[in-house]
Amino acid sequence: MTDANRKTIFVTGANSGLGKALALAFARDGMRVGMLVRDQARGQKARDEIVAATDNQDIDLFVADLGSQQEVRRAAAEILDRFERIDILINNAGTAYARRCMSPEGIERSLAVNHLGPFQLTGLLLDRIKSSAPARIVNVGTKMNTAMDFEDLDWTRRRYRMMQAYGQSKLGNLHFTFELARRLEGTGVTVNCVFPGVFRSNLGGTDGAQGVFWKAVDRLLGWAIPTPEKVAERVLHAARSIDLAGITGEYLDDRRPIKPPAQALDRDANRRLWTISERLVGLAPDQVPPTA
Ligand SMILES: NC(=O)c1ccc[n+]([C@@H]2O[C@H](COP(=O)([O-])OP(=O)(O)OC[C@H]3O[C@@H](n4cnc5c(N)ncnc54)[C@H](OP(=O)(O)O)[C@@H]3O)[C@@H](O)[C@H]2O)c1
Repeated sequence: MTDANRKTIFVTGANSGLGKALALAFARDGMRVGMLVRDQARGQKARDEIVAATDNQDIDLFVADLGSQQEVRRAAAEILDRFERIDILINNAGTAYARRCMSPEGIERSLAVNHLGPFQLTGLLLDRIKSSAPARIVNVGTKMNTAMDFEDLDWTRRRYRMMQAYGQSKLGNLHFTFELARRLEGTGVTVNCVFPGVFRSNLGGTDGAQGVFWKAVDRLLGWAIPTPEKVAERVLHAARSIDLAGITGEYLDDRRPIKPPAQALDRDANRRLWTISERLVGLAPDQVPPTA
C-alpha cells in the first residue's frame, strides 16, 4: 500500500463489540489505527489480539473516560501530539446506566458519555481532521431515540428511566451529526450517523445496565442476533466507501439513507443542543467551527 492510501483512523470504544470489530477491520486493511478505550487493561488486551490477528503493529492506545471532560482533553492533546493527520474519526463508544449517576463535572452520565464525550472529542480534534481533508467523521447512533427534553436534559425533574436516558443521549448523536455537517460545509470533511442494527454486545454491561432479564434473553436468543463483526460492514461502508465520498449529514443504516426522527431534523433543536453542549464542555470559541 502506498503512503497516500494509508489512512489514520480513530475508533472510540475500540476494546469490545462494534468498536473492536472496526479497529480489527481497519488494522487488517493495513491502516494506522488509534483505539480510544476507558480501561488500560481491557484496551491493551484488545490491542494485543488485534496485532496478533493482523500483524499490524501500528495500533495506538489512548485511555480516557468519555464522561470525564478532563480525561477527554488529555486524550485529545495526546492524539494531537502523536498524530499528524486524522482521516477518519468513528465516534462509536456508548453505554447505558441502570441508575441515574453523574459525571465528574456533575452532568448526568448517559448524556455525558454518549453525547458530550463525542462532541468534545470531535471539537478538539477538528482542526487536525480538517487539515487531513478529504476526511470523514462517522457517529454510531441507534433507532432507540427518545425525545430530547431541553428543559430537563439531566433527568432532575423526571423519574430516571434507563432506556429513555440512553435514547435521549443517543438522539444527541443525530442532532450533533446534522449541525456539524452544516458547519463543515465546504471543508472537505463529511459527517454521517450510522445505525448499525441490533447486534450482540456488552452494551451497558460494564456500567451495570444488563440485568438478569437481558442476560437470560441473551443466553436464550443470543444465537439469533448478529455479531458485531457482521454489522461492522455498515459503519465501514460509511467510513471508506467511494460511493459516499462527499456525502454528508445523512442518517444511514445498511448502506442507504434512512429517515431520522422529526426532532433531529429541526434546525433550531440542533443549534440549541450545540449551544448547550458548547457551554457544558467549555470549548473555547477557536476550538469549535463557526456557525455557517
Ligand atoms: N448493540 C446494539 O444492538 C446496538 C444497537 C444500536 C446502536 N448501538 C451502538 O453501538 C455502539 C457500540 O456499542 P456496542 O453494542 O458495541 O457495545 P459494547 O460492546 O459495550 O461497546 C461499547 C464500547 O464503548 C466503551 N465505553 C462505554 N462507556 C465509555 C466511557 N465512559 N468512556 C469511554 N468508552 C466507553 C466500552 O468500554 P468498556 O468495554 O470499558 O465498557 C466499549 O468499548 C454504541 O454507540 C451503541 O449505542 C448498539
